Amino acid sequence: MRGNFTPSTKPKKSTRENEIIQKAYLGTIRCLAVAADFKDQHTGEHLIRMGRYMAFLALRTGLSASEIKDILFVAPMHDIGKIGIPEAILNKPGKLTTDERRVMERHTLIGANILMGIDSNLLRLASQVALTHHERWDGQGYPRKLAGTGIPLVGRLAAIADVFDALTMIRPYKQVIPIDQACEIIQAERKKAFDPEVTDLFVQHQMPFHKSSIRSIRARKRGRNPNCWPRTKMNSWTG
Ligand SMILES: [Fe+2]
Repeated sequence: MRGNFTPSTKPKKSTRENEIIQKAYLGTIRCLAVAADFKDQHTGEHLIRMGRYMAFLALRTGLSASEIKDILFVAPMHDIGKIGIPEAILNKPGKLTTDERRVMERHTLIGANILMGIDSNLLRLASQVALTHHERWDGQGYPRKLAGTGIPLVGRLAAIADVFDALTMIRPYKQVIPIDQACEIIQAERKKAFDPEVTDLFVQHQMPFHKSSIRSIRARKRGRNPNCWPRTKMNSWTG
């Protein structure tokens, strides 16, 4: 299953100067993604897990190694738009009001706009993830109410990865849910929130999700702050 993934293409031949500018721009974007994650009371490890979860699912959908590498790079940028959301809303312990939820939902559009700032295939993919990771298979998501395969594959992968991580990690407004229970919740949302085929892959191959979550929980208990950016050592967790 490949869906409508926008494949990575080789960059056009560019001058050394353009390459340097592009590298600097990508570095700035990375910093912004980490800053947004810290603002949301994470410590960067959520970004790593998102990359791992999405890349694992991408591998099972049959995407190529270079496409998976692209996903590992762009996944951590999914919530970059939270940089533009007030902290009082981001970290509110109680339920958001309708107006606050509307403001919160804007992080998808803000993120997509930030990432559209340069002519780059990779950032176009990142922009797609930022824009569509809260869309739902049944068309009840946001911001565009896209449905089914009208949602880019990266958005459908990100939706499951993001919800699983949100369920299994402690947040200001909720307690941790046991991993088995989180998997049941994901399965119950098959064909509702989530792409049925991606959900099936998640259910069939959930062990790496367990391992990654448990590793993060243990690191947190030991007071460790895992590195803020994903490595591309896929073999250690996709096998
Ligand atoms: Fe989000």
